[in-house]
Amino acid sequence: MRTVGIVGAGMMGSGIAEAVAVAGLRAIVYEPERPPLERSCERIEASLQKAVARGKLQHDAAADARDAIDHTTHIEDLLAAEFVIEAVTEHEVIKTSVFRKLDALIGPDVILASNTSSIPITTLAAATEHPERVLGLHFFSPVPVMGLVEIVPGLQTSEDVVVAAEEFARRVGKHAIRSKDRAGFLVNALLIPYLVAAVRLYDDGLATREDIDDGMRLGCGHPMGPLTLCDFIGLDVVHGICTSMYDEFRRDEYSPPPLLCRMVSAGRLGRKTGHGFYDYAPLRVGAFA
Ligand code: CAA
Repeated sequence: MRTVGIVGAGMMGSGIAEAVAVAGLRAIVYEPERPPLERSCERIEASLQKAVARGKLQHDAAADARDAIDHTTHIEDLLAAEFVIEAVTEHEVIKTSVFRKLDALIGPDVILASNTSSIPITTLAAATEHPERVLGLHFFSPVPVMGLVEIVPGLQTSEDVVVAAEEFARRVGKHAIRSKDRAGFLVNALLIPYLVAAVRLYDDGLATREDIDDGMRLGCGHPMGPLTLCDFIGLDVVHGICTSMYDEFRRDEYSPPPLLCRMVSAGRLGRKTGHGFYDYAPLRVGAFA
Protein backbone atom coordinates (compact mmCIF):
# COMPACT_ATOMS: atom_id res chain seq x y z
CA MET A 1 0.00 0.00 0.00
CA ARG A 2 1.35 3.40 -0.97
CA THR A 3 -1.51 5.88 -1.11
CA VAL A 4 -4.26 6.53 1.41
CA GLY A 5 -7.32 8.68 0.70
CA ILE A 6 -8.90 10.61 3.56
CA VAL A 7 -12.34 12.15 3.31
CA GLY A 8 -12.73 15.05 5.74
CA ALA A 9 -10.08 17.61 6.68
CA GLY A 10 -11.06 18.28 10.30
CA MET A 11 -8.95 17.48 13.30
CA MET A 12 -9.28 13.70 12.88
CA GLY A 13 -8.80 13.68 9.09
CA SER A 14 -5.76 15.97 9.38
CA GLY A 15 -4.28 13.87 12.17
CA ILE A 16 -4.77 10.66 10.17
CA ALA A 17 -3.13 12.27 7.10
CA GLU A 18 -0.17 13.32 9.24
CA ALA A 19 0.25 9.83 10.73
CA VAL A 20 0.03 8.30 7.24
CA ALA A 21 2.63 10.72 5.82
CA VAL A 22 5.00 10.37 8.77
CA ALA A 23 4.88 6.61 8.13
CA GLY A 24 6.18 7.18 4.60
CA LEU A 25 2.90 6.75 2.72
CA ARG A 26 1.17 9.31 0.50
CA ALA A 27 -2.02 10.93 1.82
CA ILE A 28 -4.72 12.57 -0.29
CA VAL A 29 -7.11 14.63 1.82
CA TYR A 30 -10.42 15.43 0.16
CA GLU A 31 -12.99 18.08 1.15
CA PRO A 32 -15.41 19.75 -1.27
CA GLU A 33 -14.53 23.26 -0.01
CA ARG A 34 -11.15 25.04 0.13
CA PRO A 35 -11.26 26.73 3.60
CA PRO A 36 -11.25 23.46 5.65
CA LEU A 37 -8.35 22.24 3.51
CA GLU A 38 -6.40 25.41 4.23
CA ARG A 39 -7.04 24.99 7.96
CA SER A 40 -5.96 21.36 7.66
CA CYS A 41 -2.63 22.40 6.07
CA GLU A 42 -2.01 24.84 8.92
CA ARG A 43 -2.98 22.27 11.54
CA ILE A 44 -0.65 19.63 10.07
CA GLU A 45 2.17 22.14 9.73
CA ALA A 46 1.82 23.18 13.38
CA SER A 47 1.74 19.57 14.53
CA LEU A 48 4.79 18.59 12.45
CA GLN A 49 6.68 21.54 13.87
CA LYS A 50 5.69 20.50 17.36
CA ALA A 51 6.82 16.93 16.67
CA VAL A 52 10.22 18.27 15.55
CA ALA A 53 10.45 20.61 18.54
CA ARG A 54 9.66 17.71 20.92
CA GLY A 55 12.27 15.50 19.28
CA LYS A 56 9.72 13.04 17.88
CA LEU A 57 10.60 13.71 14.23
CA GLN A 58 13.73 14.78 12.32
CA HIS A 59 13.52 18.04 10.39
CA ASP A 60 13.95 16.23 7.03
CA ALA A 61 11.33 13.63 7.91
CA ALA A 62 8.86 16.43 8.70
CA ALA A 63 9.60 18.03 5.30
CA ASP A 64 9.06 14.66 3.56
CA ALA A 65 5.78 14.17 5.44
CA ARG A 66 4.59 17.65 4.42
CA ASP A 67 5.39 16.84 0.76
CA ALA A 68 3.57 13.52 0.98
CA ILE A 69 0.20 15.12 1.77
CA ASP A 70 -2.03 16.45 -1.02
CA HIS A 71 -5.18 18.41 -0.28
CA THR A 72 -7.88 18.38 -2.94
CA THR A 73 -11.42 19.52 -3.66
CA HIS A 74 -11.77 16.89 -6.43
CA ILE A 75 -13.19 13.62 -5.17
CA GLU A 76 -11.87 11.84 -8.31
CA ASP A 77 -8.34 12.33 -6.94
CA LEU A 78 -9.18 9.58 -4.45
CA LEU A 79 -9.02 7.13 -7.36
CA ALA A 80 -5.25 7.04 -6.77
CA ALA A 81 -5.76 5.61 -3.28
CA GLU A 82 -5.52 1.95 -2.28
CA PHE A 83 -7.23 2.54 1.07
CA VAL A 84 -9.80 5.25 1.85
CA ILE A 85 -10.69 6.48 5.33
CA GLU A 86 -13.80 8.56 5.94
CA ALA A 87 -13.47 11.11 8.77
CA VAL A 88 -16.41 13.48 8.22
CA THR A 89 -18.88 14.84 10.79
CA GLU A 90 -20.27 12.24 13.19
CA HIS A 91 -23.72 12.16 11.60
CA GLU A 92 -25.28 9.00 10.22
CA VAL A 93 -26.99 10.61 7.21
CA ILE A 94 -23.82 12.47 6.19
CA LYS A 95 -21.57 9.43 6.61
CA THR A 96 -23.99 7.15 4.78
CA SER A 97 -24.11 9.50 1.81
CA VAL A 98 -20.28 9.68 1.74
CA PHE A 99 -20.09 5.87 1.69
CA ARG A 100 -22.65 5.65 -1.11
CA LYS A 101 -20.62 8.15 -3.16
CA LEU A 102 -17.26 6.48 -2.47
CA ASP A 103 -18.65 3.05 -3.28
CA ALA A 104 -19.91 4.24 -6.66
CA LEU A 105 -16.61 5.96 -7.49
CA ILE A 106 -13.93 3.64 -6.21
CA GLY A 107 -13.11 0.12 -7.43
CA PRO A 108 -14.35 -2.76 -5.23
CA ASP A 109 -10.83 -3.87 -4.26
CA VAL A 110 -10.19 -0.66 -2.35
CA ILE A 111 -10.97 -0.82 1.38
CA LEU A 112 -13.39 1.81 2.67
CA ALA A 113 -12.94 2.55 6.38
CA SER A 114 -14.84 4.84 8.71
CA ASN A 115 -13.35 6.71 11.65
CA THR A 116 -16.77 6.79 13.34
CA SER A 117 -16.82 6.50 17.13
CA SER A 118 -20.43 5.42 17.42
CA ILE A 119 -22.30 4.80 14.17
CA PRO A 120 -22.80 1.09 13.38
CA ILE A 121 -20.36 -0.04 10.68
CA THR A 122 -22.97 -2.44 9.31
CA THR A 123 -25.29 0.53 8.69
CA LEU A 124 -22.59 2.38 6.72
CA ALA A 125 -21.71 -0.79 4.81
CA ALA A 126 -25.37 -1.31 3.93
CA ALA A 127 -25.26 1.93 1.92
CA THR A 128 -22.74 0.30 -0.44
CA GLU A 129 -22.82 -2.46 -3.07
CA HIS A 130 -19.69 -4.01 -1.54
CA PRO A 131 -20.21 -4.25 2.23
CA GLU A 132 -17.39 -6.81 2.51
CA ARG A 133 -14.81 -4.02 1.95
CA VAL A 134 -16.20 -1.68 4.64
CA LEU A 135 -14.97 -1.57 8.25
CA GLY A 136 -14.44 0.76 11.19
CA LEU A 137 -11.00 2.21 11.83
CA HIS A 138 -11.35 4.33 14.94
CA PHE A 139 -8.42 6.63 15.71
CA PHE A 140 -8.00 8.60 18.94
CA SER A 141 -7.39 12.27 19.42
CA PRO A 142 -4.79 13.75 19.04
CA VAL A 143 -4.03 11.20 16.31
CA PRO A 144 -0.28 11.97 15.96
CA VAL A 145 0.14 11.25 19.69
CA MET A 146 -2.32 8.47 20.54
CA GLY A 147 -1.04 4.98 19.81
CA LEU A 148 -4.30 3.10 19.28
CA VAL A 149 -6.69 2.20 16.47
CA GLU A 150 -9.87 0.21 17.03
CA ILE A 151 -10.67 -2.11 14.14
CA VAL A 152 -14.36 -2.83 13.83
CA PRO A 153 -15.63 -5.36 11.30
CA GLY A 154 -19.26 -5.02 10.26
CA LEU A 155 -21.47 -8.07 9.87
CA GLN A 156 -20.35 -8.57 6.26
CA THR A 157 -16.72 -7.38 6.39
CA SER A 158 -14.33 -9.95 4.93
CA GLU A 159 -11.51 -11.30 7.11
CA ASP A 160 -8.97 -10.27 4.43
CA VAL A 161 -10.10 -6.67 4.81
CA VAL A 162 -9.74 -6.84 8.60
CA VAL A 163 -6.23 -8.30 8.30
CA ALA A 164 -5.26 -5.62 5.75
CA ALA A 165 -6.56 -2.92 8.11
CA GLU A 166 -4.51 -4.36 10.97
CA GLU A 167 -1.44 -4.30 8.74
CA PHE A 168 -2.23 -0.69 7.81
CA ALA A 169 -2.54 0.28 11.50
CA ARG A 170 0.88 -1.23 12.19
CA ARG A 171 2.31 0.58 9.17
CA VAL A 172 1.18 3.94 10.58
CA GLY A 173 2.62 3.15 13.99
CA LYS A 174 -0.60 2.35 15.84
CA HIS A 175 -1.49 -0.63 17.97
CA ALA A 176 -4.66 -2.27 16.65
CA ILE A 177 -7.35 -3.84 18.77
CA ARG A 178 -10.49 -5.52 17.41
CA SER A 179 -13.99 -4.81 18.64
CA LYS A 180 -17.42 -6.07 17.70
CA ASP A 181 -19.69 -3.65 15.87
CA ARG A 182 -21.58 -2.44 18.95
CA ALA A 183 -22.31 1.20 19.85
CA GLY A 184 -19.22 2.58 21.60
CA PHE A 185 -17.04 -0.29 20.36
CA LEU A 186 -14.47 -1.13 23.06
CA VAL A 187 -12.81 2.05 24.29
CA ASN A 188 -15.91 4.23 24.46
CA ALA A 189 -17.83 1.42 26.16
CA LEU A 190 -15.36 1.92 29.03
CA LEU A 191 -14.63 5.64 28.69
CA ILE A 192 -18.13 7.06 28.30
CA PRO A 193 -19.65 5.66 31.56
CA TYR A 194 -16.63 7.12 33.39
CA LEU A 195 -17.01 10.55 31.76
CA VAL A 196 -20.75 10.78 32.34
CA ALA A 197 -20.29 9.63 35.96
CA ALA A 198 -17.95 12.60 36.45
CA VAL A 199 -20.55 14.96 34.92
CA ARG A 200 -23.23 13.55 37.26
CA LEU A 201 -21.00 13.92 40.35
CA TYR A 202 -20.23 17.50 39.37
CA ASP A 203 -23.93 18.23 38.81
CA ASP A 204 -24.73 16.66 42.20
CA GLY A 205 -22.26 19.06 43.84
CA LEU A 206 -20.02 16.28 45.14
CA ALA A 207 -16.89 18.35 44.45
CA THR A 208 -15.60 21.23 42.35
CA ARG A 209 -14.67 20.63 38.71
CA GLU A 210 -11.01 21.16 39.62
CA ASP A 211 -11.13 18.61 42.44
CA ILE A 212 -12.89 16.03 40.26
CA ASP A 213 -10.21 16.48 37.59
CA ASP A 214 -7.30 16.57 40.05
CA GLY A 215 -8.66 13.44 41.70
CA MET A 216 -8.25 11.41 38.53
CA ARG A 217 -5.16 13.22 37.25
CA LEU A 218 -3.10 13.13 40.42
CA GLY A 219 -4.78 10.18 42.11
CA CYS A 220 -4.91 7.83 39.14
CA GLY A 221 -2.28 9.21 36.76
CA HIS A 222 -4.67 10.15 33.95
CA PRO A 223 -3.18 12.83 31.65
CA MET A 224 -6.42 14.84 31.85
CA GLY A 225 -9.26 14.79 34.39
CA PRO A 226 -12.67 13.65 33.09
CA LEU A 227 -14.27 17.11 32.80
CA THR A 228 -11.23 18.48 30.96
CA LEU A 229 -11.35 15.42 28.72
CA CYS A 230 -15.05 16.03 27.97
CA ASP A 231 -14.15 19.59 26.92
CA PHE A 232 -11.28 18.24 24.81
CA ILE A 233 -13.40 15.63 23.01
CA GLY A 234 -16.33 18.07 22.58
CA LEU A 235 -19.52 17.84 24.63
CA ASP A 236 -21.60 17.35 21.50
CA VAL A 237 -19.44 14.36 20.57
CA VAL A 238 -19.66 12.90 24.10
CA HIS A 239 -23.44 13.46 24.01
CA GLY A 240 -23.70 11.82 20.58
CA ILE A 241 -21.77 8.74 21.70
CA CYS A 242 -23.82 8.43 24.93
CA THR A 243 -27.02 8.68 22.93
CA SER A 244 -25.97 5.96 20.45
CA MET A 245 -24.93 3.69 23.31
CA TYR A 246 -28.09 4.34 25.31
CA ASP A 247 -30.26 3.79 22.21
CA GLU A 248 -28.60 0.44 21.63
CA PHE A 249 -28.30 -0.93 25.19
CA ARG A 250 -30.79 1.06 27.33
CA ARG A 251 -28.33 0.97 30.24
CA ASP A 252 -28.54 3.81 32.77
CA GLU A 253 -24.78 4.34 32.82
CA TYR A 254 -24.87 5.37 29.15
CA SER A 255 -27.78 7.83 29.38
CA PRO A 256 -26.69 11.42 28.71
CA PRO A 257 -26.80 13.34 32.03
CA PRO A 258 -29.16 16.37 32.13
CA LEU A 259 -26.27 18.83 32.63
CA LEU A 260 -24.51 17.49 29.52
CA CYS A 261 -27.74 17.87 27.50
CA ARG A 262 -28.22 21.45 28.72
CA MET A 263 -24.63 22.41 27.94
CA VAL A 264 -24.99 21.05 24.40
CA SER A 265 -28.28 22.99 23.97
CA ALA A 266 -26.50 26.13 25.17
CA GLY A 267 -23.66 25.65 22.68
CA ARG A 268 -21.10 25.14 25.47
CA LEU A 269 -19.30 22.40 23.59
CA GLY A 270 -15.87 22.60 25.23
CA ARG A 271 -12.57 23.83 23.82
CA LYS A 272 -13.85 24.27 20.29
CA THR A 273 -16.42 26.89 21.34
CA GLY A 274 -14.30 28.40 24.12
CA HIS A 275 -16.72 27.30 26.87
CA GLY A 276 -17.40 23.93 28.44
CA PHE A 277 -16.78 22.88 32.02
CA TYR A 278 -13.96 25.43 31.78
CA ASP A 279 -13.42 28.59 29.72
CA TYR A 280 -10.75 28.65 27.04
CA ALA A 281 -8.87 31.26 25.05
CA PRO A 282 -9.69 31.21 21.30
CA LEU A 283 -8.24 28.07 19.78
CA ARG A 284 -4.95 28.34 17.91
CA VAL A 285 -4.82 26.28 14.74
CA GLY A 286 -2.69 23.24 15.45
CA ALA A 287 -3.47 23.22 19.16
CA PHE A 288 -4.75 19.92 20.50
CA ALA A 289 -8.52 20.43 20.16
N1 CAA B 1 3.52 14.62 17.09
C1 CAA B 1 4.04 13.60 17.81
N2 CAA B 1 4.13 13.61 19.16
C2 CAA B 1 3.76 14.72 19.79
C3 CAA B 1 3.22 15.82 19.10
C4 CAA B 1 3.10 15.74 17.70
N3 CAA B 1 2.59 16.73 16.99
N4 CAA B 1 2.89 16.76 20.00
C5 CAA B 1 3.19 16.28 21.20
N5 CAA B 1 3.71 15.06 21.08
C6 CAA B 1 4.14 14.18 22.16
C7 CAA B 1 5.09 14.90 23.10
O1 CAA B 1 6.41 14.83 22.65
C8 CAA B 1 4.86 14.15 24.39
O2 CAA B 1 5.52 12.91 24.31
P1 CAA B 1 6.39 12.36 25.57
O3 CAA B 1 5.37 12.13 26.64
O4 CAA B 1 7.02 11.12 25.04
O5 CAA B 1 7.33 13.47 25.89
C9 CAA B 1 3.36 13.85 24.36
O6 CAA B 1 3.00 13.87 22.97
C10 CAA B 1 2.54 14.90 25.11
O7 CAA B 1 2.75 16.16 24.48
P2 CAA B 1 2.73 17.56 25.22
O8 CAA B 1 3.61 17.47 26.43
O9 CAA B 1 3.05 18.64 24.28
O10 CAA B 1 1.24 17.75 25.57
P3 CAA B 1 0.53 17.49 26.93
O11 CAA B 1 1.43 16.89 27.94
O12 CAA B 1 -0.17 18.76 27.24
O13 CAA B 1 -0.52 16.35 26.52
C11 CAA B 1 -2.33 15.33 25.45
C12 CAA B 1 -1.55 16.62 25.65
C13 CAA B 1 -1.51 14.36 24.60
C14 CAA B 1 -3.59 15.70 24.71
C15 CAA B 1 -2.60 14.66 26.85
O14 CAA B 1 -3.22 15.60 27.69
C16 CAA B 1 -3.48 13.45 26.74
O15 CAA B 1 -3.03 12.36 26.45
N6 CAA B 1 -4.80 13.64 27.02
C17 CAA B 1 -5.79 12.57 26.92
C18 CAA B 1 -6.21 12.43 25.49
C19 CAA B 1 -7.21 11.35 25.30
O16 CAA B 1 -7.72 10.71 26.22
N7 CAA B 1 -7.56 11.13 24.03
C20 CAA B 1 -8.60 10.19 23.66
C21 CAA B 1 -9.91 10.92 23.55
S1 CAA B 1 -11.22 9.82 23.14
C22 CAA B 1 -11.20 9.78 21.45
O17 CAA B 1 -10.43 10.41 20.77
C23 CAA B 1 -12.15 8.88 20.80
C24 CAA B 1 -13.58 9.16 20.85
O18 CAA B 1 -14.31 8.45 20.16
C25 CAA B 1 -14.17 10.16 21.72
